[in-house]
Amino acid sequence: MAITGASGGIGEATAHALARLRATLLLCVRDTEKGARVRDALPSSGGAAHQVVRLDVSDLDDVRRAADVMLAHTTRLYALVNNAGVLLDRSERSPQGLERAFATNVLGGFLLSHLLLPALVAAGRPEDPARLVHVSSGGMYTQRIDLEKLQGRVAQLRRCRGLRAAQASAVILNRLWGERLRGLPVESYAMHPGWARTKGVATSLPRFER
Ligand SMILES: NC(=O)c1ccc[n+]([C@@H]2O[C@H](COP(=O)([O-])OP(=O)(O)OC[C@H]3O[C@@H](n4cnc5c(N)ncnc54)[C@H](OP(=O)(O)O)[C@@H]3O)[C@@H](O)[C@H]2O)c1
Repeated sequence: MAITGASGGIGEATAHALARLRATLLLCVRDTEKGARVRDALPSSGGAAHQVVRLDVSDLDDVRRAADVMLAHTTRLYALVNNAGVLLDRSERSPQGLERAFATNVLGGFLLSHLLLPALVAAGRPEDPARLVHVSSGGMYTQRIDLEKLQGRVAQLRRCRGLRAAQASAVILNRLWGERLRGLPVESYAMHPGWARTKGVATSLPRFER
C-alpha cells in the first residue's frame, strides 16, 4: 500500500494503522529523512520491508519519476492513499507554474493514481477490490467551485479558499474515478479524515487549533 505525505500528521498515523494490520508500505515523502524516521518506528509487516519513496507531489515531473520507482518496487498495489496536502496562506506556484495547493492536493494525486492504476488493477479482485483514497476535507462544503479561478489567484483572495476549492475538486474527480474504474477491481473514495491536531493545522489554522 502507498501513502503520500506519510512523513507526519494524518499520513504518519495512517501508516501506523495500516502497518499494524500487517500491510507492507511505500511511504511517499518529500523529506526522506523524516520518512526514514517514520519507517523505522513502524511495526514490521512480517513480509517485505516498508520503503521510503522520495516524492514532491506538487511537481508533476517528480510524480512521474516517483511512480516509476514505485512500480519498480511492486507491480501490485492494494491501496493508494492520496493524503499529502498543504494549507497555504499565500499564492505559490509549483515547478510547472500551477497554483501549489491545487497541484499538491489534487493534480499530483490524480496523476499518481493514473500512473499507478495498472498496479492497483493487478492487486484488486472483484470480491476484494484495491482502494484509491483521496483525503479531502469537510471544509470544502464552505467553498463554491469556480473553475476559472482554480489556477488563478484564489489562494490570495482569502486564507484557505484555494485549498477548499482544491479539496472540493478532489471530491468531484472521485466521481470521475468511479466512472473510469467501472468494471475494474478498484474502488475510489474521497473522504474527510475527521479533525486532527496536526502540525499542518497548528501552523496554518492556529485559531481553529485553539
Ligand atoms: N488535520 C485535520 O484536521 C484535517 C482535516 C481535514 C482534512 N485534512 C487533510 O488531511 C491531509 C493531511 O493533513 P495533516 O493535517 O496531516 O497535515 P500535515 O500535518 O501538514 O501533514 C501533511 C503531510 O503532507 C506532506 N506534504 C505536503 N506537501 C507535500 C508535497 N508537495 N509532496 C509530498 N508530501 C507533501 C507533508 O510533508 P512534510 O513533512 O515534508 O511537510 C506532511 O507529511 C491533508 O490533505 C489535509 O487537507 C486534515
